[in-house]
Amino acid sequence: MCPRGASVFILAVVFVSMLSGTFSMPSFLSQRLCENCVQNEQTKSWDYLLFVNQWPETFCKYYNASHKHDNKDGQECIIPPIVSTWTIHGTWPTKTGTEGPTSCNNTWQFNLSQVKDLVPAMNKTWPGLLTGEEYWYFWSHEWDKHGTCAASLPVLYGEHNYFNKTLQLKQQHNIDKILSSSGIIPSSTVKYTRDKIEESVKNATGGMPDLICFQENSDSDFKQYLQEIRLCLDKSLKPFDCPKSKFMHLTSEYDSPCSSKTPIALPPLTTGNAAV
Ligand SMILES: *[C@@H]1O[C@H](CO)[C@@H](O)[C@H](O)[C@H]1NC(C)=O
Ligand SMILES: *[C@@H]1O[C@H](CO)[C@@H](O)[C@H](O)[C@H]1NC(C)=O
Ligand SMILES: *[C@@H]1O[C@H](CO)[C@@H](O)[C@H](O)[C@H]1NC(C)=O
Ligand SMILES: *[C@@H]1O[C@H](CO)[C@@H](O)[C@H](O)[C@H]1NC(C)=O
Ligand SMILES: *[C@@H]1O[C@H](CO)[C@@H](O)[C@H](O)[C@H]1NC(C)=O
Ligand SMILES: *[C@@H]1O[C@H](CO)[C@@H](O)[C@H](O)[C@H]1NC(C)=O
Repeated sequence: MCPRGASVFILAVVFVSMLSGTFSMPSFLSQRLCENCVQNEQTKSWDYLLFVNQWPETFCKYYNASHKHDNKDGQECIIPPIVSTWTIHGTWPTKTGTEGPTSCNNTWQFNLSQVKDLVPAMNKTWPGLLTGEEYWYFWSHEWDKHGTCAASLPVLYGEHNYFNKTLQLKQQHNIDKILSSSGIIPSSTVKYTRDKIEESVKNATGGMPDLICFQENSDSDFKQYLQEIRLCLDKSLKPFDCPKSKFMHLTSEYDSPCSSKTPIALPPLTTGNAAV
């Protein structure tokens, strides 16, 4: 079931569109608003994967900025001391021009014991960054939302394959090494152009990535920080140039594509309990 508010919103959009004579329901809209609705076979289909790497420092910057005024649950964004570099966000089945599909199989619950052998590696390279959650919560979220949709590709079918293969992708595409070999290293002073970061990743992987930034707007000052490097992989897991997606430009501040107009910061990691 779609939430009632969403239905009302859709009706309003349809009504206004009809008045202006331009009615057509964009599929990404219905899909997005009904993220948790039961999806039929067709809406579960996808044609490529986003392999999403995140820079933990920028994620925490983003989290801290967006929860400044409403941190009701008292969660904090803390980078575990074991983390020293880029971490995994997830592997996301994607249909060109849209986001998702997501949450494809609600009966398939995350089961930690199925990935027991991978936990040491996942603790280090795929950590959740928020306090007050079980350490495996982030993994169960990625499984529910994305892993259950990846099952249609045999090499990603089931929990162990999904997580093991994603860990393997991380080793295969070592973002830290790729960037540093192009001279792109974390710094609190030096910034880098979008073109240079893209070219560095394209050179090393063969595919042009999507770059996601946390963008900070104060009156006279626009700053952006590199938050995610998303590689686009075909169904043989080979990188290719990410499609230029209309959708990318419609998303929230979290999903902002990096701008080419302002240099991009890659701030050094502050791990552990430095603030305590
Ligand atoms: C985010 O806030 C936590 C405290 O809640 C602090 O320890 C951490 O250093 C902050 N991180 C960033 C990147 O601002
Ligand atoms: C849905 O989940 C069940 C486990 O609960 C699994 O056996 C089944 O193969 C999954 N279906 C699809 C289409 O992936
Ligand atoms: C979780 O996986 C373990 C090991 O494969 C299995 O023994 C157990 O029955 C599973 N638990 C559930 C709730 O499916
Ligand atoms: C993984 O990390 C959690 C939380 O820090 C810890 O409780 C657990 O023992 C770790 N497991 C392994 C196998 O390293
Ligand atoms: C997990 O991935 C590794 C490569 O990183 C591979 O050698 C191994 O066979 C995989 N394990 C399973 C059970 O698929
Ligand atoms: C990408 O490769 C070209 C050709 O080898 C090289 O000239 C360029 O410096 C590389 N760019 C980066 C950012 O590493």
